[in-house]
Amino acid sequence: MELKLALSVFALASFAGCSSSSDVTIGVVPDSGAPADAADAITAAPGPGAFAADYKTSTSFFTAMSAPVKGTSPHGTTRIWYSSNVKDLLSQASFTVPEGTTAIKEFDMNSDGTLDGLAVMIKKPAGYDPAHGDWYYDMRDLAGNVMPDPPAGKVAMCITCHSKYKATDYLAGTKLR
Ligand code: HEC
Repeated sequence: MELKLALSVFALASFAGCSSSSDVTIGVVPDSGAPADAADAITAAPGPGAFAADYKTSTSFFTAMSAPVKGTSPHGTTRIWYSSNVKDLLSQASFTVPEGTTAIKEFDMNSDGTLDGLAVMIKKPAGYDPAHGDWYYDMRDLAGNVMPDPPAGKVAMCITCHSKYKATDYLAGTKLR
């Protein structure tokens, strides 16, 4: 049931993406100074809280996946990019990422070799959504435009599933290679 809903939302989002042409990317740069988590063996600096169209070649982002893989989610075949501030942190068994950490998931819904869009997670300042790790979620077209459906922010559908990955601070794909 939950999976079905997720699939239809992703299909809608990627369909809507076909007609857009702007190259504007949207994101919010957080205030600096996120507190370090003393419990983490490795601490990480705050992340960018946004990304631009050149994220694939930017030193601010990295991927541990040499090619797209078919994941276990409704996102289909995917390749995930994380902001470089968490590069060392993600290898830990459990961790909490700092404010501004940004994850970009390129997804190919039907695994036909053509990307359909981007699913995005951005760690917001403490207090944004404390019950769910303060994550912001959105879906974008390939030009970076935020899609209207689902409405960006604290998206319940995204949260429900990502809540299964609390040990890795709601990030579900950190072990994909
Ligand atoms: C039914 C479960 C499920 C739902 C619903 C879901 N995801 Fe995911 N998501 C995953 C899984 C599993 C991964 C790991 C990669 C994979 O297997 O495809 C993932 C990975 C991601 C990533 C890469 C970062 C990471 O490591 O988690 C982003 C970004 C993301 N999802 C965004 C979203 C957004 C935005 C929504 C809502 C519009 C959403 N997801 C809904 C299961 C889900």
